[in-house]
Amino acid sequence: MSAVRIGPYTLPNPLILAPMAGVTDRPFRQLCRRLGAGMVVSEMVTSDMSLWNTRKSSLRLIHADDPEPRSVQIAGGDPQMLADAARANVDLGAQIIDINMGCPAKKVCNKAAGSALLKDEALVSAILQAVVAAVDVPVTLKIRTGWDRDNKNGITVARIAEESGITALAVHGRTRADLYTGEAEYDTIAAIKQAVSIPVFANGDITSPEKARQVLDSTGVDGLLIGRAAQGRPWIFREIEHFLRTGTHLPAPTLYEVERILLEHLAELHSFYGDVMGPRIARKHVGWYLATLPGAREFRAQFNRLENTDVQCASVRQFFAERHNDGEEVAA
Ligand SMILES: Cc1cc2nc3c(=O)[nH]c(=O)nc-3n(C[C@H](O)[C@H](O)[C@H](O)COP(=O)(O)O)c2cc1C
Repeated sequence: MSAVRIGPYTLPNPLILAPMAGVTDRPFRQLCRRLGAGMVVSEMVTSDMSLWNTRKSSLRLIHADDPEPRSVQIAGGDPQMLADAARANVDLGAQIIDINMGCPAKKVCNKAAGSALLKDEALVSAILQAVVAAVDVPVTLKIRTGWDRDNKNGITVARIAEESGITALAVHGRTRADLYTGEAEYDTIAAIKQAVSIPVFANGDITSPEKARQVLDSTGVDGLLIGRAAQGRPWIFREIEHFLRTGTHLPAPTLYEVERILLEHLAELHSFYGDVMGPRIARKHVGWYLATLPGAREFRAQFNRLENTDVQCASVRQFFAERHNDGEEVAA
């Protein structure tokens, strides 16, 4: 497989952590990158810069510590605001600007942003041209296959993207109307790949090395975006990377390694978000890591009441200590 390029950046492998608001914060991005992701994308930031000084938004802005190339996703529905937001993010250190036209979240769509934009091809074109003209860095686009199953205009949007100077395109194999239901389909993604010559990435329900291989082969895309399957399983990137390269499986991480990764992740979350927000944000991540382990439900119920960083760490250590004693070695 040839190396994937996004403008001047050559990715070490074709596996990208999909942007997930509330999940792909800096600690998680750094962890996924360390465990094999070829690139990570920040959580979306609104194009309404008047909101950037809230604590939530300011934590989402890009930072010099972010792994390179630093790709920042912006969301909004107004070409000029998006262009300004793109420029401001580049000033802050973004090396790639990604535009979100894939997210069905209400908060975004109420403002006719995210995937709701796919309905208005003229506006799509105006946004893409405005953002591309505003910055000197590569601009990428994330879309769905269309806005509903009768209007799968993904190919048209992809062509608009290419004509507008978009450098690479990620396609989630669902329509906006599908939300997250049903299975992602890859035929439309394959057709989009055929229709344009910029790099195309497939996204949706890629949960294992075999699925990754199958989607790459059946669509001919240049790379894959992996979202939910990385939650609580950031090592999925090295597992898929290894399988794509060698056709063999890496052994699953041992419980000891899972414990070490989780404790490091926890410490990073605590230091990034602080003593109050840190323990709250940590809860969902801890739940994901432990989801497949016996006793996780009961543990989670008591863990979610903990408010203190040290107590959270001790509680996770205790959970694993009990399982090491049981002789369980390998993570599910
Ligand atoms: C919690 C969550 C937050 C998400 N936030 C964003 C976002 O900010 N921007 C975006 O383009 N997509 C967002 N998505 C969509 C994902 O990037 C991805 O397209 C989708 O989850 C399908 O991929 P997957 O099956 O690998 O998870 C989000 C998805 C989830 C589950």
